[in-house]
Order: sequence, then C-alpha cells, then structure tokens
Amino acid sequence: MEVKTSLLDNMIGVGDMVLLEPLSEESFIENLKKRFDHNEIYTYIGSVVISMNPYKSLPIYTAEKVEEYRNRNFYELSPHIYALADEAYRSLRDQDKDQCILITGESGAGKTEASKFVMSYVAAVCGKGQEVNKVKEQLLQSNPVLEAFGNAKTVRNDNSSRFGKYMDVEFDFKGDPLGGVISNYLLEKSRVVKQPRGERNFHIFYQLLSGASDDTLKKLKLDRDFSKYNYLSLDSATVNGLDDAASFRTVRNAMQIVGFMEDEVQSILELVAAVLKLGNIEFKPESRCNGYDESRVKDKNDLKEMCELLGIEQSVLERAFSFRTVEAKMEKVSTTLNVAQAYYARDALAKNLYSRLFSWLVTRINESIKAQTQTHKKVMGVLDIYGFEIFEDNSFEQFIINYCNEKLQQIFIELTLREEQEEYIREGIEWTNIEYFNNAIICDLIENNKNGILAMLDEECLRPGTVTDETFLDKLNTVCAKHQHFESRQSKNSKFLTDHSLPHNCFRIQHYAGKVLYRVEGFVDKNNDLLYRDLSQAMYKANHSLIKILFPEGNPAKVNLKRPPTAGSQFRGSVGTLMKNLLTKNPNYIRCIKPNDKKAAHIFTDSLVCHQVRYLGLMENVRVRRAGYAFRQAYEPCLERYKMLCKQTWPHWKGPAREGVEVLLKGLQVPAEEFAYGRSKVFIRNPRTLFFLEEKRRQCLEDLATLIQKIYRGWKCRTHFLLMKKSQVVVAAWYRRFAQQKKYQKIRFSTLVVQSFIRGWKARKILRELKHKKRCEMAVTTISAFWHGTQARRELKRLKEEARRKHAVAVIWAYWLGLKVRREYRKFFRANAGKKIYNFTIQRIMQKYFLGLKKTMPSMSPIDKTWPVRPYRFLDGTHQELRRIFHLWRCKKYRSQFTKEKKATYEEKLAASELFKDKKALYPSSVGQPFKGDYVEITKNPKYQKLNSYVEDKVLLADVVSKINRANGKGAPRIFLLTKKSLVLADQKTGQVKASVPLLDLSSVSVSTQSDGFFALKLKEGSTSAAKGDFLLSSDRLIEIITKLHRTSAASADRNQISIDISDEFLVQFKQDKVCVKFIQGTPKNGNGVACKRKNNRLLEVSVPSP
Ligand SMILES: Nc1ncnc2c1ncn2[C@@H]1O[C@H](COP(=O)(O)OP(=O)(O)OP(=O)(O)O)[C@@H](O)[C@H]1O
Ligand SMILES: [Mg+2]
Repeated sequence: MEVKTSLLDNMIGVGDMVLLEPLSEESFIENLKKRFDHNEIYTYIGSVVISMNPYKSLPIYTAEKVEEYRNRNFYELSPHIYALADEAYRSLRDQDKDQCILITGESGAGKTEASKFVMSYVAAVCGKGQEVNKVKEQLLQSNPVLEAFGNAKTVRNDNSSRFGKYMDVEFDFKGDPLGGVISNYLLEKSRVVKQPRGERNFHIFYQLLSGASDDTLKKLKLDRDFSKYNYLSLDSATVNGLDDAASFRTVRNAMQIVGFMEDEVQSILELVAAVLKLGNIEFKPESRCNGYDESRVKDKNDLKEMCELLGIEQSVLERAFSFRTVEAKMEKVSTTLNVAQAYYARDALAKNLYSRLFSWLVTRINESIKAQTQTHKKVMGVLDIYGFEIFEDNSFEQFIINYCNEKLQQIFIELTLREEQEEYIREGIEWTNIEYFNNAIICDLIENNKNGILAMLDEECLRPGTVTDETFLDKLNTVCAKHQHFESRQSKNSKFLTDHSLPHNCFRIQHYAGKVLYRVEGFVDKNNDLLYRDLSQAMYKANHSLIKILFPEGNPAKVNLKRPPTAGSQFRGSVGTLMKNLLTKNPNYIRCIKPNDKKAAHIFTDSLVCHQVRYLGLMENVRVRRAGYAFRQAYEPCLERYKMLCKQTWPHWKGPAREGVEVLLKGLQVPAEEFAYGRSKVFIRNPRTLFFLEEKRRQCLEDLATLIQKIYRGWKCRTHFLLMKKSQVVVAAWYRRFAQQKKYQKIRFSTLVVQSFIRGWKARKILRELKHKKRCEMAVTTISAFWHGTQARRELKRLKEEARRKHAVAVIWAYWLGLKVRREYRKFFRANAGKKIYNFTIQRIMQKYFLGLKKTMPSMSPIDKTWPVRPYRFLDGTHQELRRIFHLWRCKKYRSQFTKEKKATYEEKLAASELFKDKKALYPSSVGQPFKGDYVEITKNPKYQKLNSYVEDKVLLADVVSKINRANGKGAPRIFLLTKKSLVLADQKTGQVKASVPLLDLSSVSVSTQSDGFFALKLKEGSTSAAKGDFLLSSDRLIEIITKLHRTSAASADRNQISIDISDEFLVQFKQDKVCVKFIQGTPKNGNGVACKRKNNRLLEVSVPSP
C-alpha cells in the first residue's frame, strides 16, 4: 500500500506529534525545539496546529506557498497554518460546515499574526471578481484600523491586542466571501489614562502625532511632541521596528478602503485629540466657606481647546469637573468634587470617550463589511482574543482576560479531549481513559451565578452602603475561601496565613495556565465603570455629531435611573454568547507558543515552552489522539464518499450503510486493526489509511471521469453520426430534387427550342407565302400606279403646256403694255437722276462710316496700336490713311504737351537713337535711362568746387569714367566734364584737372558695336591737345556721353561735327604709338563684366560677354 505523502518526507523531527516516539514531555519539547531551530514553526497534533512565534519574518507565506497548499490534503504537505486554513475553507465550501478557527496562546505568542495569515490565505484561495475582491480587501483592511485603536505596546508584545476580536467571515454557496461581522470584547481602557512601566498607550495616539501633516495637527490643535501629553508614557514612546508615521498612513488608507467618509475620519481624529487634551487638564483646590475643597481647572487653555474641538460649551464641562449632580427620588442634589474626584472624573471621561469610540469604530466597520445579500451564508469565524496574561501587577483587566482564556481552554477540552473520549464510549469503541485536567472548576469559580467571583463583585457593587475593594475581598474571603483554586491571605484556609508572596489586598487564582495574583484595587470601580451623569450630559450637549452618538445616556429626555450592567456581567454575557456560537461550529485549533520572553528570534527557553505546553494541555491532546483514531465519519457519508472503490457498493448499496462500509473496507483489503466500527461512525486509526482511501478515491474518480467522458464522447459521436446521417438524407433529397429540376428544365428548354424552330419554320413559310401574295398585290398596285402616273403626267404635260402658253401670252401682254406705258411716260423723267441716286447712296454710306468711326476711336496714347475694322472693302485705302493721319495727329498732340526740358531730353534721345540704334548692342539698355547729365553733382559737391570754378561754361555732362591705361588695360576713375567748348578729365578723388581738351581738337569718337562702354576720343593731328595722344575711356553711360558730345560739337559756333566710328577694331594714338583696340566676344574670367587686356605693344583686346 503505497501512499504519497510529503508530510513524512524530509521531516525535521516529527511533523505530527501523534507520531512522536517515545512520547514524553522532554521528547515533545525536544521535537519542538529541533523544528524551531530549523525554522519549522508549525507542528501538528492530529488536526491541531502548534505555532511557535519565530520573532522574525520567514519566507513561508508567499503566493507560491499559498498555491502549494491550495486544495491539498491536510496531512499531505509539511505542517503549515495554510493547511489548516485550507482544510477549514474546503470543509466550509464543499461540506457546508460552518467553521471556527480558535487561536489561543499567551500574549505575544502570535495569535493576531496567525489570524491574519488565515484570513489572507482564505482571501487568496476563494473566488475572485471585482465585487468579491472589494469585500476581501475591506475585510483585510479592517485589521490595521482596529490594531491602531485597539493594540498597544506591552512588556510582552510590541503589538499586543488590548481587546478581544471575533470575526465571522460569511461566504456564499460557491465559497466567495460576502462580508463579515466583527465582535469586540472589552477593550483595556485603563491604558488610555495610565500605562505600566515600559508600555505605551494605544498606537493611534503616537501614530497621529508622528504621521499627521502639520496642517492636520494644527486643525486638531495638537503638538507633535509626545512629551506635551500627560496620557502618553514617554519612556517607551518609540518602539524599535515600529514606524508610527508610516502606520498612520496605512491606517488612513485602510479607513478609506473600508469605507470611512472623510468627515468621519476627521471626527475620529478629533476625538483622539480630545482625549490627549483631556489628559492635560489639571485641577487645583479652592477652599469653600463650608470648609470643603472644591476643584478648579488650573490652566484653562487645554480645556478651551478640547471644548473647541468637540464643540462643547466650556463652562458646562468646567462645571462638570467641579460639581456632581446626584438624583435620588426625583430630587437633584449637587455636590462639589474635590481635586481627586475631579481627576477621577477626567480619567473616567477619557476612558469612556476612547472605549466608546472604539466600539463605534467596530460598529461602523461592520456596517461597511456586512453582507449585502440575505441568502444562506456559510460562516468561518476567526477568534483572536487577548492571550493569557500574568503581570507583576494584575488587575481587573487581567482577571477578565484570563477568565476569557479559561473559557477558551474549556471549549478546547470540551471538544477535543472530553468530547473525543466520550465519543468513543458513545460509539462503543474499546477505549482506555486518559486523565486530563478539566478547568471547568476554575470557570465555575469565576462565573458561577451564585458564588462566582464576578457575581460577588456585582453584588458588592450594587450593595447599598460603603463599598470598597477591601469589602469585596472580604466577601471573596468568605465565599470562595474553600475553593481549591482560590487563595488569599485572609481566607479561612490557614495554609496562606503565612504566605508572604500573597499580600493582604490580593487574591490568587490557580488558572489552568498558572497562578495569577490579582490586586483588588480598582475592581469595584472598573466593574462599576461609572461616568458622572453631568459629564455624559455635557458630552451629549456637544455640537459634534460623533460625540452625541457615543453618549446617548446624556440625553436629558431619556433619564434612566436604572444602573447600567456592570463591566464584569457584560463581559460574562458576551463570552457566554461567544462560547455558544463557537460550539455550533466545527473548531480548528491553532495553539500559539512563545519561545522566549525577550521577543528574540532563535532563542528557545525550554522552561517557558514547557510551561505553555503543560497549561495548554498539549501532552494530553497527543495522548488522546494517539490512543484514539485519527479520523471518524458517520457510515452514510463515508459510504457515499468511498462507494466507488468497491464493485458491490457501486453505484448503489441496498443494505444498511454500516454493512456497506464493512464490505467496502474488506474489499480494499485494509488491515482490520486500522478500523473500528462504532455505533454510527467508522473510525480510522491512521491518517495514512485515510490518505490511502482518498488516493484510491481520487484515482477512481479519475477512472469514473474517464468513463463518463467515454460515454459522453460515444454519445456525442453517435448523436453526431445520426445527425450527419439525417442530414445526409436531407442533403441527398435536396440534391436529387435539384438534379431532377435541372433535367426537367433542360428538357423543357430543348422542347421549347424544337417547338420554336418548328414554329419558326412554319411562320417563315407562311411569311414567304404572305410576302409573295403581298408582292403580287404590290406589283398590281405598282403597275396600276405607273399606268395612272403615265396618265397623270400626260395630263400634267398637257396642262403645263397650256399654262406656259397662257403665261407667254401674259408676259408678251405685259411687255407690250410696259412699252406702251414707257413710251407714254418718258417725257416725265429728268436727265442724270441715276448718278444722283448713286451719289446720294455713297454719301449715306460714308456718313454712316464716319459716325461709326467716331464711336470706335482708339485712345490718345501714341503707343495704342488698335484701330477699328473697316466696314466696306472699297474703303480699304481710306481706312488705312485715316489711321495714319490719326496717329500723326495724336503724336503731335502728345508732343505739344512737352516742356522745354522734356523736349530737349527727347531730342537727345532721338539723336542717340539716330546715332546708335541697330548699330551698338549697348543702345537698347540706354533707352529706358533718362539722360541726367550731371551725375556727380558738380556744383553742389564741395569736393569739386575748385574743378567747378575751373570750368567756365555750363557743365553739360559730369560723370565718372574709367581711363584705360594702355600699359595694362586697367581703368582709373576720372571725372568727365563736358561743356559747350571743351571736355575735361579730372581726378575723381581730388577734383584736380588731368586734361582739358577743346572740342575743336576732337576729330572723331570710336566705339565698338557691342555692349561694352569703351570709347576712344581721337584728337586732330597737329592740334595742341594731340601731343599727349588719344583717350581710351570706358563708361556705362557711353550712349549719353557720345550723344551729348556729338550734339554739342554739332551745335558749336564753328560747326565742327565730330564723326562717330562704330567698329569692333579701331586704332588709338597713344603719344607716338598707334595701338589697335580689338573687341571680341567671350566670357571674361572675372565674371560677366568687360575685361581689357594688353596683348602686345600694338594690341589691346577687350572681351565683351556675349549677349
Ligand atoms: N509567524 C510569525 N512570523 C513572524 N513573526 C511573528 C509571527 N508570529 C508572531 N510574530 C511576531 O510576534 C509579535 C507578536 O505577535 P502577535 O501580536 O500575533 O501576538 P498575540 O498572540 O496576538 O499577542 P497579544 O495577546 O498580546 O495580542 C508580532 O508582532 C510579530 O513580530
Ligand atoms: Mg494579538
């Protein structure tokens, strides 16, 4: 029988204490230690998980681990809290059994952490979806909020839960979370006003001061400095490893996720701030005339700020700290409070304020997380209650906490030890009884209605007369003295009279987890939990929405003289309800153990662990487990579950279920000692046997699944085949129909064709006959028509002949008559009338022509070339002539508008045209340029004043020209002046005269035909100026210069007209030498300008860019 189990694989120590051999306390602790040293913090006792606090984070809570444990058998993998969570979740989901997870252990053992792991595991494996995820997130995020307000650092635990928490998570039938309900149990509110040494107040105070923004603190009138607040203990205000500021952000975020409104958060923070402020209110005595001291608020600033925060009228609260109104028999009596009473009242108010705020928070969270549907819900409860506590100084709170733990232990005993043993007996299974300690007796000592400690306390609190903690202790001494778990100095039990470890004002209870010494001081007060009515009324009057809700009893309209239930009885009631609730559910245990008292990793204090193992009753647990059977199940569900493993039981067993199970197990050949048959249940001794059954079942289910699959596939194929067959018949029918249709259509078509051919042939035959008949008829008609035609034509001819004759007669008659008339009237006609008529007609035509011309005359612009078209061809010559005349006339008109200067300019332009048009290529570019004459402003420019004075006559032209040097062909700038009589060349810069030539000495000017500005001024041989030789000059304004020179010389008195040679090669006389200037077309190297180059002594070559 091979069973696949990894619980046993690579096991460190023993994973399940049931398998521990030999079983003794030492080996038990040794095993825990060994596993703890190897970071194996979880160990099983059957289905109970022992969890050792590692005090360090271990990589065993990852998403991969969650996947590993998901849907796996409890004993299949190494022990883990996830295995328990998975088992619980699956039983809830698949077997519809409500579950509760009871996490017990002393303070700091890791209960809260364990509860969070369970919750997060369930959240990870249950259903997903937007709504479900929101619910999960809200459930998980309720933790940080409650921890901030309900947890505090104690000497045992830096994050100790100071309230009990039970959370019911509700699921739907699919196992998806729907919501939850949180119950809280008795917050340790005394912590608000006083903390033992080395401990802190609730986390939220420190978180608020460290983490809130400056702005928020200002609004809350708070200071970041912890030392400013009396209620905050300073020696351990900061805790290693706790980042209060970051936690504050987490809490704010969690509140938002859970669904707190922004104004609600603000109200909550205001209350927290108010508690801090309240702690700072101090009192001083003020003597009254009646001799009593009355308390007065010392410094009213904190009171004022607190009242402002909560919207309370300061005077009302101030009065409530100085007076107290007692109502008795409809009478109100006001008594003064002394300073101690005022402090008591202040602290009571602070405690009440905080604890009520906490309860409101739980209610508010419940409102957010409650399931939205009313359908049947499956419930998983997680109980994380404060652990068993033994402090140096134990008070009412520890008493309550430890009482709660007693009850839980009892539930454990009830369900695991006693119940188990009783079940064996009930079922008739052979069984040797195991001794274990039943703590019912301690529970009874505390909660017994008649003489239990809580009942005594209530009785004392309600009793008239003076009630003190001492009177309460006295009462206990009388009532409980004989109880074997109660010890006190004054008890009748003389054994303790000399026990100095037991002071007089204390009593000791021997709890299941050890002896705890309780100091009675404060028991009565804390149980009464009194808040002066004046204070609650002052709170109710507050103008603050939350405060009003928290103090409903302050409403004067609802004055209730009945005392509220005491804290002890309230707690007893809620614990009772809790126990009842837990008993209805399937329990799953996590027993947390603390390895050392130092909160340190790696330290395993044997004695401490041993103590916990003892009081948790773990050894008994193992013994009972070992002596008994690991698994049991009623016959019916067992048979139902495994019936597929045996042919006789599958698919239906007809007989009783028990016999079926017997047949089944026999058939599987499981050894007989592995089973015991109870009255209603079968007991399986070894978990392995269960695994074996489960494994077999799994295989069988696989086979069954294959079978179902096979049958389904067969059915599917058959159905498919039948469908195909049916379809095939349908398709075939349709096809045949289609084919027949086609054939029919073809035959029909052929028939129609044949028919049409025959009809056509017949028709054609008839047509032929008809045509023949028609032709015959037409021939007859034609012949008759021709005959009639001939007849008619003959008749017509005859008639025409007759008519012609008649017409000829008429014409001859008319002529004759005309002749007669003309002869008769000739004497009446004038001579030359025809010519006159002709002339008259011509005149009319000309008149019309001229009038038309007048209307269509072109514009007066001489350059307008338009002219109307001629109307008659015979007017061609006239029309052209008129055009010419008109043009000449409008030119004249145009000229007549000229001024004298403009006329001279045009004349000059005309002269230039006569000289150069179509002769020199430079000419066209000069047409558009006006001939300005003076380009250097000779008269105005002061530089040329001397030059100006040198020239006597009026300067006709002044311009800068280049004088070409014969030696290199380069030009030098010169001022060129032309007057009536001479021309002058002067230096451009200085105006100094270089040469002055009378016009008389000039013989001719030579220029090229090209677009260059070169010109040679040739001098008459033998003249005075000729000694220096001719001038070779160059100017862009050559046309203007030469024209002016030519006109001036022609106009001179001696009419010495200078001739102008236009040729591409001419000679220039330089002193003695004659040099030939030759113009060629080409592309000069220096761009597109004209270049002059000396080729040799006799030749200057000017290259002009081709046009
Ligand atoms: N599984 C764990 N892994 C790592 N650290 C752990 C684990 N369990 C507990 N701890 C550490 O131990 C500390 C105490 O644990 P926890 O607050 O759960 O104790 P508790 O049993 O709830 O105590 P109390 O009764 O005072 O509330 C945690 O703050 C954490 O540092
Ligand atoms: Mg806790």
